[in-house]
Amino acid sequence: MRCATLERTLMCDSSVGSALSPLDTPVPLHGIKPASPREIRDEISAAATVAFDQAHIWHPYAPSPAAVDPLVVTAATGCWLTFADGSTAIDAMSSWWCAAHGHRHPALVEAAHQQLDSLSHVMFGGLTHHPAVDLAERLLAVAPAGLEKVFFADSGSVAVEVAHKMALQYQRGVGAAKRKRLLTWRGGYHGDTVAPMSVCDPEGGMHTLWRGVLPEQEFLPIPPPQGSSDATIATYVAAASAAMTDDIAAFIFEPLVQGAGGMRFHDARLVTAMVQACHARGIVVIADEIATGFGRTGSMFACDAAQVTPDILCVGKALTGGMMTLSAVLATSKIAAAIDTPAGGGALMHGPTFMANPLACRVAAASVDLFATGYWRPRIGAIEQQLREGLADLAALAGVADVRVCGAIGVVEMRQPVDQQITQQAALSEQVWVRPFGKLIYTMPPFVVTSDELAQIIRGVRAAVIAADNHEKKALLAGANAPNQGSRSRL
Ligand SMILES: Cc1ncc(COP(=O)(O)O)c(C=O)c1O
Repeated sequence: MRCATLERTLMCDSSVGSALSPLDTPVPLHGIKPASPREIRDEISAAATVAFDQAHIWHPYAPSPAAVDPLVVTAATGCWLTFADGSTAIDAMSSWWCAAHGHRHPALVEAAHQQLDSLSHVMFGGLTHHPAVDLAERLLAVAPAGLEKVFFADSGSVAVEVAHKMALQYQRGVGAAKRKRLLTWRGGYHGDTVAPMSVCDPEGGMHTLWRGVLPEQEFLPIPPPQGSSDATIATYVAAASAAMTDDIAAFIFEPLVQGAGGMRFHDARLVTAMVQACHARGIVVIADEIATGFGRTGSMFACDAAQVTPDILCVGKALTGGMMTLSAVLATSKIAAAIDTPAGGGALMHGPTFMANPLACRVAAASVDLFATGYWRPRIGAIEQQLREGLADLAALAGVADVRVCGAIGVVEMRQPVDQQITQQAALSEQVWVRPFGKLIYTMPPFVVTSDELAQIIRGVRAAVIAADNHEKKALLAGANAPNQGSRSRL
């Protein structure tokens, strides 16, 4: 793997005894500083902030005003959030899975400051700059071998839109213009703009609103879960192959972990077999690694574990270490060459105003440099082990359907949708910030978490699960259906 050869010597004390958990070894250049008093706003201004927010600002997947007041965050450093009243909590979500190096990692803060002093933004049409080129060089060095081209976009959803266009233009370029539909499997999530929504799980509740409006894509059943037998995988891939008809342009999927569509895990063997089946039938493979990319499942990219190179790879979220929005779409030269033919359109037809924003690229380059040190590799194993040990016994609770862990992702699936407010409050009583959705209470901690902080996260998740379980029991005792206030979206 090319990324392995890139890894540099970890900037930590090599004399650390082997008995120490990797989570308790130093992280390169990482400093957890408490919020300074200046960053803590007084409660009166916080109340005004919430009032204005509720009156005028939409939050994700929420009515306006929202049913519950949002908490006001005044600072975030390392794993910790500071609220306006001066209280703190661990960000067990890595702020929707992006703050992998923790908040305000000094290397990223320094990169942003340096870039601000020279060039914050410039159009990318006809112009280029060092941050974009530096980042592209770094991305191609750590990505699965064979990806040679980079398109910078603004967010994960836009990256998926661009990947979709790339696949369609490619098929036109190779004389297969009738290939117009996407193939995917149920249980996925790829974003909120139109093309991504059309390949999100059709029954999952999040996009049912748009049935009849979205383009109709081809859906395979939910992939067989992690640990499935070879025979089960072979049966699934055989059925999938039958659905790979000659109107299918591309197969889009999240390798190893289906995130916001249900936090389900599947095997690398399945990914390998699906990629082979697609390639045998002229179908473009789009790996959406916006959530799984950059170490979350234990390898740099989930595709690495399956030893496959997709034709198109989408990354986002942790790309900038969560500091600002940026995504990238990587593609093979074969894809680019077909797009550049007259039949393919002659050019990739996309070009957002803030494409390759220098500030974001510079921060992302610093973030990819941190990933390239490999500092996170032993940490992911240690996080996985501690999460397994800390969550396993929850499976015995009547209200718990499943407990599963994959890399730095720990999930407790309840039997019923959970009440978001009750479970969040329970976790906050342990100073832990989580955002349960549907039946799922889960954590995706920053990779810089210490073992003590992770123990605290586990206490928070446990408190949330027990609160959900008790709530469910009470509802059953009352003989009524529990009021279903559980969010069915990824929030
Ligand atoms: C796998 C996957 N793809 C795409 C997206 C959309 O990314 P964004 O929210 O940046 O638009 C997400 C976001 O959660 C995701 O998990």
